[in-house]
Amino acid sequence: MNKFLIGFSLLVMCACNSVKVETLDVSKPLEYCSAQTQRTLTELKGDSTIDYTIMPRNILNGSNIWNCKKATKEEWTSGFWPGVLWYDYENTHDPNIKQYAEKFTQSLAFLSHTHAYDHDLGFLVFTSFGNGYRLTGNSAYKKILIDSADTLATLFNPKVGTILSWPREMEFNNWPYNTIIDNMINLELLFWASKHGGGKRLYDIAVSHADHTMKNQFKPDYSCYHVALYDTLTGKFIKGITHQGYSDKSMWARGQAWAIYGFTVCYRETHDIKYLNFAQKVANVYLKRLPQDFVPYWDFDAPQIPNAPKDASAACVVASALLEMSTYLDSNKALVYKNDALKMLESLSSPAYQSGKSNPSFLLHSTGHWPNGSEINASIIYADYYYYEALLRLEKLNRGEKLFIN
Ligand code: GLY
Repeated sequence: MNKFLIGFSLLVMCACNSVKVETLDVSKPLEYCSAQTQRTLTELKGDSTIDYTIMPRNILNGSNIWNCKKATKEEWTSGFWPGVLWYDYENTHDPNIKQYAEKFTQSLAFLSHTHAYDHDLGFLVFTSFGNGYRLTGNSAYKKILIDSADTLATLFNPKVGTILSWPREMEFNNWPYNTIIDNMINLELLFWASKHGGGKRLYDIAVSHADHTMKNQFKPDYSCYHVALYDTLTGKFIKGITHQGYSDKSMWARGQAWAIYGFTVCYRETHDIKYLNFAQKVANVYLKRLPQDFVPYWDFDAPQIPNAPKDASAACVVASALLEMSTYLDSNKALVYKNDALKMLESLSSPAYQSGKSNPSFLLHSTGHWPNGSEINASIIYADYYYYEALLRLEKLNRGEKLFIN
């Protein structure tokens, strides 16, 4: 190392209280995502024209082709492929990709004028129309987003103070009123719609949901319950249980990831410091228990560890959230969280996690629903979506740009 570099490194170390600064060249993984997106498009085209209502969902362990699903209101992952295309357009500025993004996105327009099936409406439309509006300013997208937020708000119960996540489970599982931690992600749509002409009520619903979730859905160590059950009549919290995790007491990796991401968004949208403080606590318990490669096992308490399947999707969600969180913190704390995010992205960008030639997705080793025996150690479209998002966020930070203009 030359004298200048030694001097510069020392300066950085002093300024940052001896925390080593991680770096990651994002250009290679971004190029990789773009190339894999082209491979998926080629696969979807086959030898005929593309059906824009069919969305890639997963590539199961042992297969090398996408399992696709028709975009319906029941198929919660349908927005992620249009979202990947929007991120690819943001990355490449390729007008062909923009056209594909528009066509796949349009297949979800029906959601804005259909009764709410469940809370996943936010996942469905914010990944697709939300990114589309951010990148194009298309006013038709804005209307769809606001209408969808109004539809999502029909699931809000003021007696409980949260959005009902899974209306169907009241019947199928004989559960009373339920709110799942994943639902934190859907608040972004409500905040956005409120700011863009949807009215203050949507903001109030998002805040009420976040506050009740913060109060009821976490254990003393800040790990969360996947599902909070509430009394339908009194609105009182009954108990926390799991659905996709190992047990009611365990820490389901993706559930914790949704919580870290969701409370970070709540801070962005409200500037209420309690959300930022809480997001850090929820992140700390996750970070403290990570394995060496910074990608969690599907559940931190899975008895098969170290032979349990990993969940790369959780790592992608958390990497993206920590990059955002780092922009709200003082420089020492910011550096710690940003470094952790970089270690996650470095690991995910290695041959251990990238699908490479083996299949056209971006990443291997995600786990969808272990208790159901589905999507175990698979490539899953939402891992790819949050991976692309995190890489683009990192690129912006490397360029000294703001992630969000509020
Ligand atoms: N939102 C469902 C899941 O995380 O699997």
